[in-house]
Amino acid sequence: MGVDLAVKIGKLKLKNPVMVSSGTFGCGQQYEELVDLKELGAIVTKTITLQKREGNKPPRIAETYAGMLNAIGLENEGLNYFCETTLKYLNSLKTPSIISVAGKDENDYCKLVKELDKLKVKAVELNISCPNVKSKKKYMFSQDAQATYKLVSRVRKLTKTTLIVKLSPNVTDIKEIAKAAEDAGAEAVSLVNTFLGIAIDVNSRKPKLGNITGGLSGPAIKPLALRMVYEAASVLKIPIIGQGGIMSPEDGLEFIIAGATAISIGTANFIEPQSAILIKNGIEKYLVKNKIKNIKLLRGTIKIS
Ligand SMILES: Cc1cc2nc3c(=O)[nH]c(=O)nc-3n(C[C@H](O)[C@H](O)[C@H](O)COP(=O)(O)O)c2cc1C
Repeated sequence: MGVDLAVKIGKLKLKNPVMVSSGTFGCGQQYEELVDLKELGAIVTKTITLQKREGNKPPRIAETYAGMLNAIGLENEGLNYFCETTLKYLNSLKTPSIISVAGKDENDYCKLVKELDKLKVKAVELNISCPNVKSKKKYMFSQDAQATYKLVSRVRKLTKTTLIVKLSPNVTDIKEIAKAAEDAGAEAVSLVNTFLGIAIDVNSRKPKLGNITGGLSGPAIKPLALRMVYEAASVLKIPIIGQGGIMSPEDGLEFIIAGATAISIGTANFIEPQSAILIKNGIEKYLVKNKIKNIKLLRGTIKIS
């Protein structure tokens, strides 16, 4: 039996629901000898900013039980470099790409989106949830429903491209923030970015990360991320791209059953570059075995009696 894995995120059509997460897959090029990129549902690029950023002082990564802490600090070459080089590469691929952007204030986000709109990119993900950069605000946009609404509304007016908003798990009520993004015109939300954490070297008594705190990712966060996807799905009409510790087809299926339309693979790429494809193949097998013709029929089917 053939099964249909295709899903839609806003206007973006994906041939399967398994994408790779921002910051864990470069812009695809770095993985092309290891992974058949056309098998991926989509590639979410490393977040780009208006100006080049050097990132945080090292060390930027610390291993933890069942996960990792990172405080990269959005190191990237900046918008101009991206548009002149990386975007050409991404446009040459058969797999759609989603361009992740971050700014220090609303104006930055607007400038980034305006420029990308001129270049007719297929989709933009507003990263309003990076825990590792200092901005003018004391908190992230995604930690405040009103700030999320105001930013997304402003950006929405500047582009017709598919607009995805990536949210932070470091909040009390994810439903409130996700709804603010939807009400402001987001066509999908990505859930979740990393959880703020810290690790200390007991010999030196210094933090293991140069930035002191970092973002926790990997299997350690899966039940937390899954709970947030489940909660957000109870209030949203727009699609959710679920992520956080997905390592296996079963993990991915849990997110879809909880209400995600698509899933994204992050930390797993560092362990096994083929993770996304293996997960996609496993999901396909599950659908065949359970005689489910279309992935959409599985979405949000969690049984609560
Ligand atoms: C090393 C590293 C770098 C990351 N960089 C970004 C980034 O630039 N932009 C972003 O939106 N998320 C970034 N993330 C967060 C991931 O995209 C993802 O949301 C998060 O890690 C949870 O998924 P996972 O547990 O499968 O890794 C990064 C994560 C890691 C581990």
